Amino acid sequence: MKFQSETVSNIPPYLFSKINERKKELVDKGVDIIDLGIGAPDLPTPRHIVETLKKEMDNPQNFRYSPYGGCEEFREAVAAFYEREFSVQLDPKEEVLTLIGSKEGIGHLIPAVMNPGDRFLVPDPGYPVYETASVLARVKTVPFPLKEENNFVLDFDDIPVEEAKQAKAMMLNYPGNPTAASVNLDFFQRAADFSKEHDLLLLHDSAYNMVTFNGYKAPSVLQAKVDRERVIEFGSLSKGYCMTGWRIGYAVGSKVALKSLSVLKSNLDTSQFLPIQKAAAYALTSDNSFMKEYNEILEKRMLVMHNALKIAGIDSNKPKGSIFLWCKVPFNLSSKEFAEQLLDQAGVIITPGSAFGSKGEGFFRVSLSVEEQKLKEAGTRIAEFIHAPIKGGV
Ligand SMILES: Cc1ncc(COP(=O)(O)O)c(C=O)c1O
Repeated sequence: MKFQSETVSNIPPYLFSKINERKKELVDKGVDIIDLGIGAPDLPTPRHIVETLKKEMDNPQNFRYSPYGGCEEFREAVAAFYEREFSVQLDPKEEVLTLIGSKEGIGHLIPAVMNPGDRFLVPDPGYPVYETASVLARVKTVPFPLKEENNFVLDFDDIPVEEAKQAKAMMLNYPGNPTAASVNLDFFQRAADFSKEHDLLLLHDSAYNMVTFNGYKAPSVLQAKVDRERVIEFGSLSKGYCMTGWRIGYAVGSKVALKSLSVLKSNLDTSQFLPIQKAAAYALTSDNSFMKEYNEILEKRMLVMHNALKIAGIDSNKPKGSIFLWCKVPFNLSSKEFAEQLLDQAGVIITPGSAFGSKGEGFFRVSLSVEEQKLKEAGTRIAEFIHAPIKGGV
């Protein structure tokens, strides 16, 4: 195509497009679709945060450009949040950067710290942006497997020493998308030691750090004994604070890597709108007791869906965090075929595991971003679909 660069045409195909087309056809026909493909929380942004945004909108000073790298209020709030949640001290001027959502930050960090041809260790299955941003930056991803027998937690022995030596950076993500796996601080210590041993920049995507269940507290990689210059952690207000569309997140850690990211970003964007940064600063530092209530809602949904799937004969994990269940495809179908048939025959959308990498094949992801009643209904429909006579290759 004339107006499409080779780089963009090299971006892996968008697996959801066929499902989305089919969804539209069915909705137009009046079919009631339950969409468990959505990766964003459905619960509202808490009122006190919305009210702060409104107040900040009344101050014309806030309509100016934000300082590059984000406003002081937000950077200080991220530092205060790390002190409160993880007892980690950060210098808000040099160790914190405002992002227009963590996806933007991850996407830009890759070209900011790596050169074309550099090798980047990424999880398989994993959040697709690690791969697509690498394609854009002509960085070569080297996938490492997340295996069921390890509860989808990386076993460092699964990364061949040669690959580790040749790589420049490694990406981790816990609680994880799509597997919903979680780790403890010992794991991050092992990751920190591994990156030191192989001279890697350690990146941790902690988008779901505040979405946790049953007393589990997700650790920060910065709590490990690690050379700060070797680590970057990405965080988001999209999930824990239910501020998805606000587009606000942060990166913390290595001064040098953040400086590189800031140079790149200051040439492409001028940070987020000030009222959003200021309302987000307030969110990070004010009462967050709503999270307990929100997480209880999600945990309940998780248990409801886990049980419904179990009754249907489908194995899934019982995660300690995130908004997903990672489930086994029950038939001898590819995850894509399973997703397509489930949509056609049961009106339920799930995400095929292969959308997240070759090791995602055989699995599918269910989002918990719909009400409990809808999840129950989806569970019933899935059970009926599975127990209906003969699907391809049962
Ligand atoms: C693992 C993971 N990282 C990062 C993001 C991006 O979040 P945001 O850009 O909204 O901060 C998402 C969103 O779905 C995600 O699942």
